[in-house]
Amino acid sequence: MAVSVLVVVCLLDLGLAIRAHGDMARRTPLLSLPPFVEVLVLVATSLWALAAAMRSRLALIRAETARLAADEEAKRLLQVIDNSPAVIYMRDREGRYLLVNRRYEELFGIRREEIVGRTDFDMFPPEAAADFRANDLKALASGAAVQAEESVPQVDGAHTYITLKYPLTDIAGRHYAICGISTDITDLKRAEEEANRLNSGLESLNAGLESRVRERTAELEASTRELDAFAYSVSHDLRAPLRAVAGFSELILEDYGSALDATGRDYLSRVVAATTRMSRLIDDLLTLSRATRAELSWRPVDLSAMAQRILADLRSAEGDPERPVELIVEDGLHATGDPALLELVLQNLISNAWKFTAKQDKALIHVGVERLADGGCAFFVRDTGAGFDMRYADKLFVPFQRLHSVDDFAGTGIGLAIVGRIINRHGGRIWAEGHPERGAVFRFVLPEHRPALREGGAR
Ligand SMILES: Nc1ncnc2c1ncn2[C@@H]1O[C@H](COP(=O)(O)OP(=O)(O)O)[C@@H](O)[C@H]1O
Ligand SMILES: [Mg+2]
Repeated sequence: MAVSVLVVVCLLDLGLAIRAHGDMARRTPLLSLPPFVEVLVLVATSLWALAAAMRSRLALIRAETARLAADEEAKRLLQVIDNSPAVIYMRDREGRYLLVNRRYEELFGIRREEIVGRTDFDMFPPEAAADFRANDLKALASGAAVQAEESVPQVDGAHTYITLKYPLTDIAGRHYAICGISTDITDLKRAEEEANRLNSGLESLNAGLESRVRERTAELEASTRELDAFAYSVSHDLRAPLRAVAGFSELILEDYGSALDATGRDYLSRVVAATTRMSRLIDDLLTLSRATRAELSWRPVDLSAMAQRILADLRSAEGDPERPVELIVEDGLHATGDPALLELVLQNLISNAWKFTAKQDKALIHVGVERLADGGCAFFVRDTGAGFDMRYADKLFVPFQRLHSVDDFAGTGIGLAIVGRIINRHGGRIWAEGHPERGAVFRFVLPEHRPALREGGAR
């Protein structure tokens, strides 16, 4: 269609050229040329005119096509920015609006034709406008994209936007405008503030809890100290009268034994036996009190050497070096802690193992270390003795709690309470496993280094 229009136009041009030449020949008769030359000139002139006309028409068509293509491109771009949920706008170097997208129109109730030429100072309160302008200038000055958080007053209050602004460059390389893309992050911001508020609430709640725990711990420590001091002085004060009872009973037996009948002498010997037992009880109570109060001195401790020594002492002290009990003490059992107190731990655990295997024909006592499911290591003292019922396992570490009768196995029921306190004071833990007549194992874990925990906090 365009081509046929062009040809028609060119033919019209040619006709006009021929007519012009005829007129000129008629006005200058003196210049008469032979007819064929005249025809040649006529054709050449017409062709020249035709070419010129075609060139100018082509240029016009090209310009029109380019304009249409540019329009098409602009429409497409506008479609893209109009479908964006972000607010998009272009302002010139002086801050005058060149273009805004549909989101902007909706938000601020203004049509894009109306906003062109206005500035933010016509649209927003001065402080907000000044803030936006400052960010525009920053992007212009840096010649690169700038990101900023902007607070924009809207009908329902201030909204927070995260805005990206970058300068637009013309073909000469000059920054002629600023393009801004702003995304509303108000909800995100509110959620963040809420999370922060909750967090700080939680922190203060935690701090409150911690201080209450500290207070309670201090109270508990104070009352434990008082109780210990009481137990200590009572035990101490009991010693003198007890010694007197025991001493005088023995004197009566020695000096006046013959004046008593057999029943009288039996009663008195029972008094003496009871005082011996009570004296041991007092010793144990004093040890328990010391284990609770003594300052811990942290050193490397060779538990293997300690266990060997304790077992050797037991063998010789019991006066039965041939007792059929196999003793295994693993090498390299190293710990860190208070040597005197850890000795008390091993002393009690091993002498229990020794005591509760006494009735076995063939027994085994094993002191060693093993890996736990959580990756840590536990020391253990295992025996194949009388064992105990697991239902009462939680009573073992409570003072005076015994799972066996004194007739079967002598004892005061304080040893494991001492062990428990010492392990706790080291920041470790201890637990027991046993089965009646099938032995028992006592496991304990000690921290590898002095725990950061305030000493006594684990009590
Ligand atoms: N190795 C063990 N095997 C079986 N029972 C044990 C063992 N060690 C301790 N027990 C039980 O735990 C109780 C408390 O032990 P402990 O405090 O050492 O007191 P004591 O040795 O004076 O009886 C014991 O009376 C016993 O019932
Ligand atoms: Mg004991």
